[in-house]
Amino acid sequence: MNSRSTSARPGSRRAGTPESAGLLVEGVTLRLGDGDATVTALDDVRLAVTPGEFVAIVGPSGSGKSSLLAVAGALTTPDSGRVLLDGVDITRASSREKARHRRNRIGFVFQSGNLIPALTAVDQLRFALDVAGKRPSAGHEPLALLERVGMAHRARHRPQHLSGGERQRVGIARALVTRPAVLLVDEPTAALDRARSDDIVKLLAHETHESAVATIMVTHDHDVLGHCDRVLSMVDGKLSG
Ligand SMILES: Nc1ncnc2c1ncn2[C@@H]1O[C@H](COP(=O)(O)OP(=O)(O)O)[C@@H](O)[C@H]1O
Ligand SMILES: [Mg+2]
Repeated sequence: MNSRSTSARPGSRRAGTPESAGLLVEGVTLRLGDGDATVTALDDVRLAVTPGEFVAIVGPSGSGKSSLLAVAGALTTPDSGRVLLDGVDITRASSREKARHRRNRIGFVFQSGNLIPALTAVDQLRFALDVAGKRPSAGHEPLALLERVGMAHRARHRPQHLSGGERQRVGIARALVTRPAVLLVDEPTAALDRARSDDIVKLLAHETHESAVATIMVTHDHDVLGHCDRVLSMVDGKLSG
């Protein structure tokens, strides 16, 4: 482990090997269910994503894509293997530390945006900062970020007054406002039409490069893969190039 990287601050992030920067998933196996119903959701998975890299994972339903995001996002502890985030092993962290990693260093984007109904778009971002105990970093202030995702004109709107694509844009801005090291995106276009899907994935690619975040997107949608730096496939819990 590289001890220097543990003190790296957002904005001071260096490009480097996945051991020290970005995300490294190594030898991860995850079994789910009990007894005869046990399923090997992840089978000796290895994946390295560097800061600013946009990796897509495609695979049939039930192949383990969401499980991989859950392990990479410190939501699920694997049976074996490890997950390094900027050189820090999050699989061995206490549940309290895992929660802190999720708030501070990991951004999640889900299928439908998962916004808080009572909050305006700009307050979704402010709330994420509050929860992480962070101040906005330069260029990533809530309004600046909403502007970047094309949502400045909807900053005072609540989710019920936003379209599916607009909610997804706010969800992406919210995930990035805390300057995470890793962005985990699960089927972001599942509820969108073709043109909106293309826009959203193009935006994810752009923001991944701009924010130098290590992004994994899992998707069924083969039409959007042209925007990704690398495409991997998952079958029966096994990841291949
Ligand atoms: N909580 C659970 N208990 C038992 N099996 C589960 C659980 N969650 C998922 N699975 C199984 O693990 C496998 C991988 O699921 P998942 O990661 O959700 O796949 P995907 O996202 O690719 O559709 C599937 O066989 C699924 O049925
Ligand atoms: Mg899934």
